Parts: sequence; C-alpha cells; structure tokens
Amino acid sequence: CGIVAYVGHREACPIIIKGLKRLEYRGYDSAGVALMNGALNIYKKKGKVADLEAAISEEDTHGHIGMGHTRWATHGEPNDENAHPHYSTSKGIAIIHNGIIENYASLKQLLIQKGHTFHSETDSEVFINLIEDIFQNNDCSLPEAVRLAMHEVVGAYAIVVLSKESPNQLIAARKGSPLVVGVGKGEYFLASDATPIIEYTNEVVYLNDYELAVIKDGELDIRTKEDVKQTPYVQTLEMALESIEKGGYEHFMLKEIFEQPRSILDSMRGRMIAESDHLMMSGIREYENKFVNAKRIIIVACGTSWHAGLVAEYLIEDFARIPVEVEYASEFRYRNPIITEDDIVVAISQSGETADTLAAIELAKSKGATIFGICNVVGSSIARATDAGAYTHAGPEIGVASTKAFTAQVTVLALIAMIIGSKRGTLEETKLRQLMVELETIPAKVEKCLLLDDQIKEISAKYKDATNFIYLGRGYNYPVALEGALKLKEISYIHAEGYPAAEMKHGPIALIDEQMPVVVIATKDSSYEKVVSNVQEVRARKGKVIAVVTEGDTTIPSMADYVIEIPETSEHLMPLLSVIPLQLLSYHIAVMRGCNVDQPRNLAKSVTVE
Ligand code: G6P
Repeated sequence: CGIVAYVGHREACPIIIKGLKRLEYRGYDSAGVALMNGALNIYKKKGKVADLEAAISEEDTHGHIGMGHTRWATHGEPNDENAHPHYSTSKGIAIIHNGIIENYASLKQLLIQKGHTFHSETDSEVFINLIEDIFQNNDCSLPEAVRLAMHEVVGAYAIVVLSKESPNQLIAARKGSPLVVGVGKGEYFLASDATPIIEYTNEVVYLNDYELAVIKDGELDIRTKEDVKQTPYVQTLEMALESIEKGGYEHFMLKEIFEQPRSILDSMRGRMIAESDHLMMSGIREYENKFVNAKRIIIVACGTSWHAGLVAEYLIEDFARIPVEVEYASEFRYRNPIITEDDIVVAISQSGETADTLAAIELAKSKGATIFGICNVVGSSIARATDAGAYTHAGPEIGVASTKAFTAQVTVLALIAMIIGSKRGTLEETKLRQLMVELETIPAKVEKCLLLDDQIKEISAKYKDATNFIYLGRGYNYPVALEGALKLKEISYIHAEGYPAAEMKHGPIALIDEQMPVVVIATKDSSYEKVVSNVQEVRARKGKVIAVVTEGDTTIPSMADYVIEIPETSEHLMPLLSVIPLQLLSYHIAVMRGCNVDQPRNLAKSVTVE
C-alpha cells in the first residue's frame, strides 16, 4: 500500500492525489483521501487513483491538511468499504495504514465488547478504534493514545492519523513498513517513499521502527514508543524528478527496459575500471575478511530478485568457490534454517522493503550471521537493517514488473563474485582481467539487444494469443528462463513455466504440442551442444521454437521457428544480455493483449506484508 499526507500552505488534495499516483505501483485495488476542511471529509473508492479523482471532482476538496492511501488488499476484498481511510466509531479520528496487524482478531473482539462498531473487514479499522478507545479512557492526548496503541498491536504498520479535535495535526508512526517525512518551508509531507515528495523538497527524514512523529504548528516532533524525544536526522536526496516520469515512453516498463545500458553502467561506475585494473566496492571493503573466510553464503530474496540470486549462486561458486544457497526469503524464515556466525547472508531487494526478505534478515541477524544487502532504494528498510551492502544504481523502478533492477543486481553480484574470487585467489588474474574488460562492453551490447525491438514485436504478434509458454535455459541461462516466464505471467496473464532445459524431459515435455511456444535460450556456452539436443526434442513434438542465440549461430536457425540473435559475451555475463529480448517479448505481448503493463492485476511492486 502507499501513503501520502500533507500539511502546509498549499492545497492538500492535489498534492495527495498526485502523490498517490506516484505510489500506485505499491497497490491499486482502491484509493481514498481524508481532508480537513472544517469537517473531516473522507472519500474512498474501489479501483485506481484516477477513479477516486473523478469521483471527487465535484466535491469541495479545499483545505491545507489531509492524507491519502492506495491499497493492495490483504484483509478484505478490494471494495469501497475496505478502502482507506478508516475512521473510528465516533467518526472523529481517521487512519491510513500500510501493513498487517496480526492480533487484529482478538483486539476486534475486545473492542466490540466495549461498544465499538466496525464497517469493514480490515485490520486497520481495528487499529483506529483501539486508538480511540485508549484516547477516551485514559484522559490523554491523541498522540499519546497512538503511542500507547503501538504497545498493543502486533504486526507491521506505517500509519497516519488525522482527527477532528486537532485539525492542524498529523500523527504518524511506523513499525516494519516505510514512512518518510518531507521537510519543506513551512510545510511537511509524509509518504511511503520519497517519490511523492521530491517535487517539493529533497530534505527528508526516514522514520525508524517504533517511532512516532507529530506534526503541528510547523514543528516536527519525533519520539520513540517509550516516549524518548529524538533529534530528526534530515537527509538530502539526490533523486531527480525526471527519473520518476515516463519521459516520452508509453509505459514505465518500456522506459526502464531501454534505460538498461545506463543503469548497468551506473551500477558498476566507480567500482570497476578495466583499463586501470580498478575493482573495488566500498560496502565490501570493511567485511572483506568475512567474505573471504565465509564457510557459506546464503542468498535470500523474492521474485525477480531471487532470480538474480540464482545467477549469483553460479557466479560466486564459479569465481570464489564458496558454497552458496539461494532461498526464497519466505521459506527460509519458516523452516528453522541452520545459520552460523561464519555465514554471510546476502539479501537482494529492489525496493528494500519486501517484508519476507526483511523478516529473513532479522532471523539471520539473531543467529549472528553477517548480513549484506543489495538494494536499489537508498535509505530503504533493508538497506538500513543490514551490516553492510551495495546499492544497485538503477534509479527508481516504477513498472511493477522488474527489469532494470534485475540487470543492475546481476551486475553488482558479478562484481562481488569477482572481488571475492580475486581476494581468495580462486579467480585467476588473467581471467579476472578478461571478465572486467568484458563487463565494460556490456552496456553497448545491451544497446544492440534493444535494436531487436521491432523483430520481437513481430514475434509477439504471432504468439500473443497462446495460452501457455515454456522457457528453457541451462547453466547461467536457467535463471533467465525462470525470469522470462515470470515476466510473461506477471504482465500478460499467460501461463508460463521456466525450466532447466534438460529437466524438461522429466515432465514438462508432456505439455508440448503444435500449440506450444517454447522460448529456448541457446547462446554459445559450455552447455550449448546439450541445448541443441533439447531444441531437437521440442521440434520432434512439434513445439514452436523461439530461440535466443549468439550472433552468427548457424546450427539453431535450421531448427527454430524464430531466431533472436544477441551479441557474444562470456557465459558468466550472458544473463545481462539474454534477459533483454525476453523482457521485450513479454512487454509487447502484454500490450497487444490490452493488459495494464505497468500495473498488472493483483500485484504490487513492493510487498510490505508477509
Ligand atoms: C514483488 C514484485 C516483484 C519483485 C518482488 C521482490 O512481488 O511484484 O517484481 O521481484 O516483489 O521485490 P524486491 O523489491 O524485494 O526486489
């Protein structure tokens, strides 16, 4: 979910609506605003922020303080009732909430017994009634009631509270879900991330877990839930406004696919210059010995970031000869894993807010492991929860289906594997140098892959009505096959399976008939010959073969229905190239099917619930 709030000299409503649109990638099941204008007016609607905007166009929405929310449904289906803001029984206090209150059922029962009434199925409505209950029964101020309520709720939250009684006051609190305060001149902003704020001010304060912020009469007061006053740490952000706008592209996803030559370069900038043998990552330096002596590296991540983790497994084991395990963060956390102080846990996350990944980090921390983070969003919760880390400098990624974040993650992970390999002496110097030279050529080669756009559009038109797809790859291209299938599923709603090419014969081959498009990544590498055999197996069952091959390949074209030629590179770095045509294929198919590419149904970019 996404949260925005404003108090200051400007009209609050337009700022909130615009901000919610920027945060829509975090969920778009419903949207709502609460505006203070003599009365506490609440408007909410199932659907996109644009639907809410249309619904309130005739209303008097003037006022200088307010808050808004865009929802990704957890408790309760997406409808008007379950949309935020929620209000208390007396209707005097309203809340917007991102997160999950785990003990909401027992709290709700208690509150019903005390006479509170509920209109929605949400846990958030329980939270606001709890606050009201404490407020009414403890003869305390509203901020104090919120603070006390923080002791009662179990779970994750970022909340903003507005009340009729204090019409100039915003109260915010967080535990586990992100919240940023924007500090302007005589005005304040609150948001789930900095994108709604950056247009007005680049001075921000990130709230920490268990902190409560009260904004009133131009003052920002931050306290811990134990009521200890904190000095706000104001940071200056460098994010440019253009980076969060579409810049002439039809969709953010397409813009982000085309940004990859630059984002890959930015992710290695300052970390590697092949010419002068410079290879360095400041985040690792301090923990170099830990990495060099690590008995094991455990990678935890979700979704596309997990696929980047799989590539890293191959890279690190190959270059550094340290055993690597790649885990879905959600599974890792709940299966009593064996973690020792000699382990390094690497958490990969574009948003830096994924609740499953954050929970896995907390668990690993409690067992004494060293935690290294690879995040794209500066100042995000995961970036702050880790001992050390490296940012992927991909710039804001807004399309829900991850593209440039994946290639930036693989770039950073390749650098890490090279650094550890060279420190451990397991990666020969000549090989290291070759890799550095090759990595430097990748942005230009990605540029060449992007020239395939028109050809891929033609292929997309041919297969846009397919109901199933299979993606096959081996070695370094196996995670790419998984990622290609995930991209297609996410945005076009076509069922797709990614498989290791050789494993196909143990099951999925039964699915192959003349209707089945099979995307095979068959670039020239150590398993090329084997993949050729796998292509033959598909052909023999009349499957349609779309092959991604290395330029100049003369074998596969005679067997495939379509051939996509990409530049040659070292097999270790091939995922950075071979994923590009697959991103474009899923993009064009989704557009041709009339799907909402940037905001696919049921998904959210940043999943801050477990
Ligand atoms: C969500 C997104 C995916 C993303 C995953 C992990 O499910 O829809 O695109 O890969 O979260 O996100 P993270 O921000 O941790 O990389």
